[in-house]
Amino acid sequence: MIHNGLDDIIVAATVLSDVDGAAGQLVIRGHSLDELAGRQSFEQVLHLLWQGFFPDLPDPAALTARLGTARAEVYAATAALLPQLARRPVYDAMRAGAALLGDGTTLDDALRLAAAPAVLTPALLRLQAGGTPLPPDPALGHAADVVRMLGRDGGAAALDTYLVTVCDHGLNASTFAARVVASTQAGLMSSVLAGLGALKGPLHGGAPGPIITMLDEIAAEGDARRWLERAVHDGERLMGFGHRIYRTRDPRADALKAAVAKLPKSAGRLAFAEAVEREALAVLAAHKPGRVLQTNVEFYTALLLEAVGFPAEAFTAVFAMGRVAGWLAHAREQALTGRLIRPQSVYVSEEQVAA
Ligand code: ACO
Repeated sequence: MIHNGLDDIIVAATVLSDVDGAAGQLVIRGHSLDELAGRQSFEQVLHLLWQGFFPDLPDPAALTARLGTARAEVYAATAALLPQLARRPVYDAMRAGAALLGDGTTLDDALRLAAAPAVLTPALLRLQAGGTPLPPDPALGHAADVVRMLGRDGGAAALDTYLVTVCDHGLNASTFAARVVASTQAGLMSSVLAGLGALKGPLHGGAPGPIITMLDEIAAEGDARRWLERAVHDGERLMGFGHRIYRTRDPRADALKAAVAKLPKSAGRLAFAEAVEREALAVLAAHKPGRVLQTNVEFYTALLLEAVGFPAEAFTAVFAMGRVAGWLAHAREQALTGRLIRPQSVYVSEEQVAA
């Protein structure tokens, strides 16, 4: 029997996170998302995820300082090449910058990789906008430093909530890719690059950029129901809706919506997005009555990152700033406890494929 898409196939035991698709609950190392998002900093959750996977992991305060140092190290290692990298789309350039870091397995290797998307993305965006990069300030918190490196003022708490909300999520496609590479005993950079490759696609981490396009087109047309019905009728997928695991609302959507609501000047855009969401859910219910297609994490991600000041083309790179914490923990867990991942395929004739 072929398990196309590997639905319901269990290939790893993990202490890191649990996604309960029926109940709509996400647990990260024993804590519900509600206990973490907006309450714990990204660095505290990084500490939670990495416990037991690095023998020299310091306490959360020292880890926060070490992550600041790692940001400075990433900048020093990549600054000379950034103008050249900035000619590529920001996600590809960020990934190429991360590939300049070492492929080791130590805590310092992991910290530099965890820092890489956070340092490279704002620097590349500033170069692409004709400006100059702002070097990291190791004394700041991670999210606050990202906002500062972007040249923005405000939104650090919302970004911190976002990074925590997306830090880990079971065996999603990018985490699985990272674990497959880790199972070969390749270094941590190779696992992160695998994760970055998988995250890029619109069915995974590439959805929030197109959500802004969707919202803008709907605003211009002035009739959400008509726009959404036409898109579904044309066979398009509505970005920000549906999920492989959740059969109810994605709990991350509400965590992010709450963070957006706290941002100044977001009320009008939030009210508009809520109205579009209501229409989209009605259109999807009519389109696929037998399938629960609910709002996923990406819908309010788009709103939050837009309000913090990121351009839509950078949203997936910002997703990587958070998810890299989980990839690195999973890569260590896989390398320490797992077995080489090597599934089977069935050999078929061309005629069978065509049939
Ligand atoms: N809009 C319209 N139709 C949809 C949507 C959607 N957003 N999602 C699923 N469907 C339809 C599919 O076309 C399919 O119809 P079919 O049976 O006639 O072919 C049916 O619902 C089931 O779709 P599947 O592909 O089996 O659903 P799956 O669970 O594999 O897909 C996925 C999940 C990829 C997220 C899908 O819902 C989707 O494409 N959503 C839009 C993209 C998106 O929001 N991606 C971000 C996901 S969250 C994350 O990865 C961080």
